[in-house]
Amino acid sequence: MNRQIAKVLWNRSITPVVFRLGLSCQTGYSHTVPGQFVMVRPVDQLLPLLGRPFSIYSLIKKNGQISGVELLIKVIGTGTDRLAKLKEGASVALLGPLGNGFDIHPDDGRHFLVAGGIGVAPLVFLAEKMIAKGVSTRQCEIFIGGRSSADLLGIDQFNTLNLPVHLVTEDGRTGEKGLVTSRVEQIIKIRRPDRVYACGPWAMLAVLADIVEKHRIQCQVSIETMMGCGMGACLSCVVHTRDPSTPYRHACTDGPVMDTRLIRF
Ligand SMILES: Cc1cc2nc3c(=O)[nH]c(=O)nc-3n(C[C@H](O)[C@H](O)[C@H](O)COP(=O)(O)OP(=O)(O)OC[C@H]3O[C@@H](n4cnc5c(N)ncnc54)[C@H](O)[C@@H]3O)c2cc1C
Ligand code: FES
Repeated sequence: MNRQIAKVLWNRSITPVVFRLGLSCQTGYSHTVPGQFVMVRPVDQLLPLLGRPFSIYSLIKKNGQISGVELLIKVIGTGTDRLAKLKEGASVALLGPLGNGFDIHPDDGRHFLVAGGIGVAPLVFLAEKMIAKGVSTRQCEIFIGGRSSADLLGIDQFNTLNLPVHLVTEDGRTGEKGLVTSRVEQIIKIRRPDRVYACGPWAMLAVLADIVEKHRIQCQVSIETMMGCGMGACLSCVVHTRDPSTPYRHACTDGPVMDTRLIRF
């Protein structure tokens, strides 16, 4: 983990409220794993006072070396709105890589990756890493859910990796109509995975946790809590656990990836 001033390499709009932000970084990212995150804030603006956490969407490479990180960001409030307006060459304070990552088990027979909306951000990197570790594209299925078509992100990237993608929208305009978790359960009953990896809104993860518990499948989720420091100092990211010996854990340092059996949803 390190703190540095990074330059915006690009800021590409994907939808009216989602953009890809490429940031240069000098050092410290060579051992980054999917699921880890960074804290980012513009340096020449008063607001936001604190950095905001974002999953690492991809690593930028130059001459075989990691030269930056790319983030996939949805505008939610002040911090993300300010980042959305940054131009190429602007400076940001970058802290990372932070947290743990997904624990990949390449020997498992079947893997499901489940994304809710912007929760797709760490899962493209995860899918790439799984394939690099020898997981075949036939062993991996992707589920992407959102309220409407505009919330379905990362489809092209998964298609490029030749991974089968299930699309689910609540309004039914794209893919299946309903909740992504219902689709996951339908497919679990046909092709039971050994492990599920997911990222998305808390409510989606809570439903998914019930489903995997019912079917006795292991599941790791990346949780998106509020975060003040990203380093275990401010307690803003506390997660209530089922472990009586440590009933509260930090999403920033004990996570953001946790086993669903640990979390008290
Ligand atoms: C480990 C981690 C990884 C993340 N990765 C990504 C990512 O890759 N891409 C991305 O777009 N976002 C990601 N997020 C969420 C992102 O950090 C927040 O959307 C961002 O901090 C909002 O900042 P803001 O200043 O725009 O909004 P604020 O002005 O701080 O908040 C606006 C409103 O949104 C609510 N809010 C803010 N953050 C959250 C949250 N995490 N959950 C629920 N409600 C919230 C606030 O309570 C407030 O009502 C991640 C969060 C975590 C913890
Ligand atoms: S974000 Fe400050 S303790 Fe986790």
